[in-house]
Amino acid sequence: MKRIKIAEALKLTNFGSEVTVMGWVRTRRGSKAVNFIALNDGSTIKNIQIVADVEKFSEDVLKQITTGACLSCTGILVESIGSGQAAEIQANEINILGRCDADFPMQKKGQTFEYMRQHAHMRLRTNTFGAVMRIRHNMSMAIHTYFHQHGYYYFHTPLITASDCEGAGQMFQVTTKNLYDLKKCEDGKIDYSDDFFGKQTSLTVSGQLEGELGATALGAIYTFGPTFRAENSNTPRHLAEFWMIEPEVAFIDLNDLMDLEEDFIKYCVRWALDNCKDDLEFLNKMIDKGLIERLKGVIDTDFVRLTYTEGIQILQEAIKQGRKFEFPCNWGDDLASEHERYLVEEYFKKPVIMTKYPKKIKAFYMKIDEEVPEIDGKKMEQTVQGTDVLFPQIGEIIGGSVREENYDKLVNEIKERNIPMKDMWWYLDTRRFGTCPHGGFGLGFERLILFITGMQNIRDVIPFPRTPKSAEF
Ligand code: 4AD
Ligand code: MG
Repeated sequence: MKRIKIAEALKLTNFGSEVTVMGWVRTRRGSKAVNFIALNDGSTIKNIQIVADVEKFSEDVLKQITTGACLSCTGILVESIGSGQAAEIQANEINILGRCDADFPMQKKGQTFEYMRQHAHMRLRTNTFGAVMRIRHNMSMAIHTYFHQHGYYYFHTPLITASDCEGAGQMFQVTTKNLYDLKKCEDGKIDYSDDFFGKQTSLTVSGQLEGELGATALGAIYTFGPTFRAENSNTPRHLAEFWMIEPEVAFIDLNDLMDLEEDFIKYCVRWALDNCKDDLEFLNKMIDKGLIERLKGVIDTDFVRLTYTEGIQILQEAIKQGRKFEFPCNWGDDLASEHERYLVEEYFKKPVIMTKYPKKIKAFYMKIDEEVPEIDGKKMEQTVQGTDVLFPQIGEIIGGSVREENYDKLVNEIKERNIPMKDMWWYLDTRRFGTCPHGGFGLGFERLILFITGMQNIRDVIPFPRTPKSAEF
């Protein structure tokens, strides 16, 4: 008999008919006469209850129905009174597809997240990780749908690259060289001429630079792929391998860019509320009681739009009033996550899009502002048209900018920052051959999933996290 998914079985109302379900046992309880088995197949957070009359089954079969075991059950669909669902199954036939050894690591309820990270290969079998992974899938679909419907082309940028987009030197090298026998040049540097690509290459930290080539030909593109950063940040917000979404659009200015960022995030949040109801309700109950409220709050509110200089002034006023921060925040400093969270969670109590950052704390490709900001009549330094979207609980969820489209200004920046020109010729060609105003942003997919699920640690919203000193599974 054909198996149906538990999500479908739970919706059926033709009680009295026969169905077959397959899945993994979550729990089994019962008396001498009757057993109740909660079965889950991943199609929904909900379990279906199987009622098994002990006399119908051999002791050998019943003995193997333990938490984690996989089984197939054929029986009669009946209206449920006790299980909390509409339907349950009165079992006629149970086949054990896979027995489960007694040391199954997801045996007990209420294990710590740290314990589950150590058993990440089996944590997908828990309610929480099932919910998070289904939401991850749904958000991927939301992202592709949004861009497809808005006329963006899904554009595939390379994972292996020779250029450091962010210029932060956080790249993982890609090489086939024998590390035990490295040939050096006369100046002591490594000779890459006999390496696989004939030069030094790394895993990409961003698809933006190639994305700009796409946008200045196709008009609007987006990337959605893995991104790698060898930054030694052991925080609940950083991964060494994460997924990034990077739209890049021709003919937009700073305001258009901020509109796009806000509209896109709201669309994703709305999609989650519309399509992931059961999983969100579970997470709201078990992980974060304020989750659904917070998600609804985001779609109903206008994001605050604030310049960096205004942000600094608010923070300095707070310090004057006695608010303590661990890190300094004078004009020119990069904002720490405590500063971002103060603005978002305490001061405005809503998402903030911050713009016009000091040039020296941002990447080389950002468009330089015409005006230099002043505080109390005193001129600060040059700023750039970067836009970071700051979110409650998360901090920076998006980093983007209008790009410097002027060839001379861009070359100037590259030289000032000592970025090797020979690696940049192809990028600079966009500014020589029909340059145009354009911009885009990068959304960290896992940071979005953190926000949508209410989970606290970025290691728990990706199936197999990669972080410093950890590449298990
Ligand atoms: O702000 P970032 O570094 O910006 C860029 O890479 C630009 N090239 C994007 C663009 O304009 N096309 O990174 C963008 C976003 C961050 O806002 C954050 O959400 C996420 O990527 N991100 C990380 N997420 C997880 N782990 C890390 N180590 C991350 N680093 C950045
Ligand atoms: Mg950033």
